[in-house]
Amino acid sequence: MRLLIFLLFFGTLTAEEPRLRIEIFDTPEELAEACASKIARLIQTKKNCVLGLATGNTPIPSYRALANKVAQTDLSEVVTFNLDEYIGLAPEDPRSFHSFMETHLFSSLLESPARPRGFKRSNLHIPEGKQKAEEYEAAIARLGPIDLQILGIGTNGHIGFAEPGSPFESKTSVVQLSENTRRDNQPAFGSDPVPEFAITMGISTILQAKEILLLATGSKKAEIIRQMLTQPISPWIPATAVRLHPNATLFLDREAASLLGSLHAKD
Ligand code: GLP
Repeated sequence: MRLLIFLLFFGTLTAEEPRLRIEIFDTPEELAEACASKIARLIQTKKNCVLGLATGNTPIPSYRALANKVAQTDLSEVVTFNLDEYIGLAPEDPRSFHSFMETHLFSSLLESPARPRGFKRSNLHIPEGKQKAEEYEAAIARLGPIDLQILGIGTNGHIGFAEPGSPFESKTSVVQLSENTRRDNQPAFGSDPVPEFAITMGISTILQAKEILLLATGSKKAEIIRQMLTQPISPWIPATAVRLHPNATLFLDREAASLLGSLHAKD
């Protein structure tokens, strides 16, 4: 079951703030199914579609469902841009976001003799390092705009790796990761240190997408989702910037939405 809500920030909604759509799903699996359907529909209807992709545990089930849905679809014209990557990890490092995308989405859908209409590797973009930040931004400008940007959210409100304090005008750049983010991401690194720096799309880069879909699942995200939706829009909670976008949707499962008691369903 899914419940559609338009966000009304009683007391904090400003006149110029567009309405944010919020869809709440009973389970993460239902959310993943809806997310995959939305992406698949776009790929199947929009010629040369440009997708903005996220890493993290949250989108994994959506990518699995998407791979099934588009197994027979021609993906040769689809262009993708990932949000971010650690600095200092080789693309082949299993902990890099390059490896993440390969494992969770690209590997089964890449062009091959058995799959001539798969993703063309040259159409898939993941940022790589300091010297590439401006080039990455230029590539998005050249091949974009991004039709649909998928986002997760960090427990401190980061989107991509745009950490608290990132100006809303920020473009793709190298950033220092917060202690909170490095702690959250420690499990993937075992006893090794989490890299201190990353390259990420900026808030302004993200907001240039034609449409944004932010995903959050699990009780661990409930508090930051509450803050994202009820606190004033500010760089200190980067995800509040999504509230400025004219075409943004949040997909939440019940647990991530569990602290949204003051929101009201409408329409
Ligand atoms: C990572 C990524 C973000 C992601 C976030 C949440 O650090 N850079 O793009 O949204 O953290 O990850 P998860 O979905 O695992 O909670």
